[in-house]
Amino acid sequence: MRLRILGAGAGGGLPQWNCGCAICSAARSGQIASMSQSSIALSSDGARWVVVNASPDLRVQLAAHPPLHPTSLRQSPLVAVILTNGDIDHVAGLLSLREGSPFTLHATGTVLGTLAHDRVFGVLAPDRVRREAMELERTFEAAGLTVTAFAVPGKVALYLEGERPDPGALGEETVALDIRANGRRVIYAPACAALPDWLIERMEGADVVLFDGTVYHDDDMIRAGCGSKTGRRMGHVPMTGPEGSLSRLATMGGRRIFIHINNTNPVLLPGPERDAIHAAGWEIAADGQEIVP
Ligand code: MLT
Ligand code: MN
Ligand code: ZN
Repeated sequence: MRLRILGAGAGGGLPQWNCGCAICSAARSGQIASMSQSSIALSSDGARWVVVNASPDLRVQLAAHPPLHPTSLRQSPLVAVILTNGDIDHVAGLLSLREGSPFTLHATGTVLGTLAHDRVFGVLAPDRVRREAMELERTFEAAGLTVTAFAVPGKVALYLEGERPDPGALGEETVALDIRANGRRVIYAPACAALPDWLIERMEGADVVLFDGTVYHDDDMIRAGCGSKTGRRMGHVPMTGPEGSLSRLATMGGRRIFIHINNTNPVLLPGPERDAIHAAGWEIAADGQEIVP
């Protein structure tokens, strides 16, 4: 199995267009690497590729990954797209795949319902782009990969939030993927609001776990002066704190890699926070990173 990080950043990317914070400024000046928005690509055979989450940066991400270049006139190795939720950073890139090439779009019935409700996504003509409802805990095949979606605590997409959204709801709104091929197993969970025992057990034994690295402290955004929302309110468990990922996943085996990293996360700069996650055995995903699970 091959895995490529197309975009390691959270929504907004790094630098974020309207942000002049120290981290975004460091990325603009080339001091630290920029990150495009949340997406990975996987292949069981190096020929057929599955993109998980279609970010607004997808066009440039595909251009930067030669195995995903066309193989002949109007023939793409991209055969399927899988969505883990309906967030803008995971669906907007679908609009960049509208040029008539066939692929299968896998998402839960709930997320497909959201897309169906929005006429702009009708540009993905049904005779070219087959939409397959992904049932929780029901394994399916995508280009030689064996995939199972499972619910993780999360919330509805920002643009669907009502008065009081439940940030830790369990259902079809937010899923993680268990992806297997050639005896290897990858877990991809770019959004996850909490880490109950059952979820830790569900992820145990994977060769690679790509996990929600949106925030370091629950109140990163507030500390940075960039907003009033906590990570938990946004559906993202923080790295730190007694219920955070560093503590809850401390004994999990396999390669542990933080992904979907927000531009306010202090681990992006050299310093004690970055040192702490490395000391705990975690990696920080980077755009263009190749992983062979
Ligand atoms: C998130 O991960 O919390 C969302 O991508 C936020 C957003 O829609 O900008
Ligand atoms: Mn996001
Ligand atoms: Zn910033």
